[in-house]
Amino acid sequence: MFASVVLLLAAFLFFLLLFQTHRTKDFPPGPQPIPIFGNVLQLNLESPIADLERLAKRYGNVYSIFLGSRPAVVINGLQAFKEALVNKAADFSGRPQDLMVNHAVQVKGTDQVILADYNPGWRQQRRFGIMTLRNFGMGKQSMEQIILGEIHRIIQQFEQSVGNTINPHRLFHNAASNIICQVLFARQFDYEDEFIKFFVDLFQETSKIINGRWGMIYDSIPFVRNLPLPFQKAFKMFKISHERRLELLAENKKTRVPGKPRHFIDCYLDELDKVGDDASSFSEDQLCAFILDLHFAGTDTTANTLLTAFLYLMNYPQIQERCQQEIDKVLDGKDEACFEDRNQMPYVQAVLHEIQRIANTVPLAVFHCTTKDTELMGYSIPRGTIIIPNLTSVLYEEGQWKSPHEFNPENFLNDQGEFVKPEAFMPFSTGPRVCLGEGLARMELFLILVTLLRRFKFIWPEDAGEPDFMPIFGTTQSPKPYCMKVQDRRQGVF
Ligand code: HEM
Repeated sequence: MFASVVLLLAAFLFFLLLFQTHRTKDFPPGPQPIPIFGNVLQLNLESPIADLERLAKRYGNVYSIFLGSRPAVVINGLQAFKEALVNKAADFSGRPQDLMVNHAVQVKGTDQVILADYNPGWRQQRRFGIMTLRNFGMGKQSMEQIILGEIHRIIQQFEQSVGNTINPHRLFHNAASNIICQVLFARQFDYEDEFIKFFVDLFQETSKIINGRWGMIYDSIPFVRNLPLPFQKAFKMFKISHERRLELLAENKKTRVPGKPRHFIDCYLDELDKVGDDASSFSEDQLCAFILDLHFAGTDTTANTLLTAFLYLMNYPQIQERCQQEIDKVLDGKDEACFEDRNQMPYVQAVLHEIQRIANTVPLAVFHCTTKDTELMGYSIPRGTIIIPNLTSVLYEEGQWKSPHEFNPENFLNDQGEFVKPEAFMPFSTGPRVCLGEGLARMELFLILVTLLRRFKFIWPEDAGEPDFMPIFGTTQSPKPYCMKVQDRRQGVF
């Protein structure tokens, strides 16, 4: 009996030792972790944002927490961001591996782009991605035409809803997804199409699982990974999505004419023909991974920012009206808006940037990782440490904004009413890992917002009660579902 108790105790101690958590010398300070769980149980897993802010107040702008037994350094505030992601970019631009998101998304060991570590393969893929998006019109008129075409579909949906209330959640996701689909494989889907439905569901659901409660549990406690817990749904969905992408690729290859690219996939296959897949990072598996990265990153982010935009514009009607006055004046006599018009619209620009600031769509960016032993603000951080760039802390940082905690376009206007962009505006992050689709996203947000505000007035329904501005946390945050009432400004009727 005594022997079994001792054995049990020894096993227990061994177990604790296995999941031991301690901070090395000069490692950033933080709350005391407990074995196995680290600090995870001390965070609100519905949304850890408030807890992360509380910890920054207590331990400073660079502190550490344990995700299970893995240490992670949380960086907060503009100064720490600049030192880490810009001045020491090469040290801080890796990506952690062995998290739920890697296991769910990566297929056959491909590196993806978003999740690829800081290595020559990532650089090659990223450079190709930026160049191809640019050739296909990112920042150019051809991309404007794609976006304006999609806006016509949104308008049609709103026209049918004039006088009624409409829940815009699905609509903006469909539109954002369709825009990036046209770049990737030149297809514009019907909003009822199974393909678009599946991918929009995939992005919406998994972005909440990955950084949410179940993702954190998966990342922190390795031995639960094979249990039938809710995160298994994300794995299943990503597996199906891979099969769908393979089908799409096979279809495209049938009609492709080498050297005459119609879209991103063709460009990639042309590049693959040139470089071969032996000595380079280019391969068909990598292409499948890249498509998912761009489709995912280009859908949920833009759509959730638009949802936040209309939530605020309906509840700040005087701001909506002032935007409409400026839009009417600048576009007087023109059929359609173009991206260049933004330079004549300082107030709209200020509102749009304020929306992005307050929306805080990707609150913790994508986790980074140190590529070598390094230092940050006097602390030593070993190679391979997870870095959590708390973008929220910069977008809401006191001292950087006139009104850090309120929705106020004055944050982006100077005394002369001119548009100014403070350095702390970084919803797309900063440094070598800065969002690859920033140019496309900015164009989409401007054209969609301006065109819709020109045509419609958006009203918070009388029976909707008080608006709830608190977002649902995830890799991308979204406002809680809401409905909007639409008035056609040309007819002035409900
Ligand atoms: C409002 C819209 C968007 C926001 C707020 C946003 C924000 C971000 C953020 C915060 C990151 C992480 C940066 C980091 O790790 O430090 C990121 C990465 C990325 N985004 Fe976006 N994004 C948006 C739209 C898009 C679009 C439209 C695309 C595709 C065309 C895109 C493609 C990517 C890619 C590929 C990465 C990974 C870059 C890398 O690891 O090298 N994003 N984005």
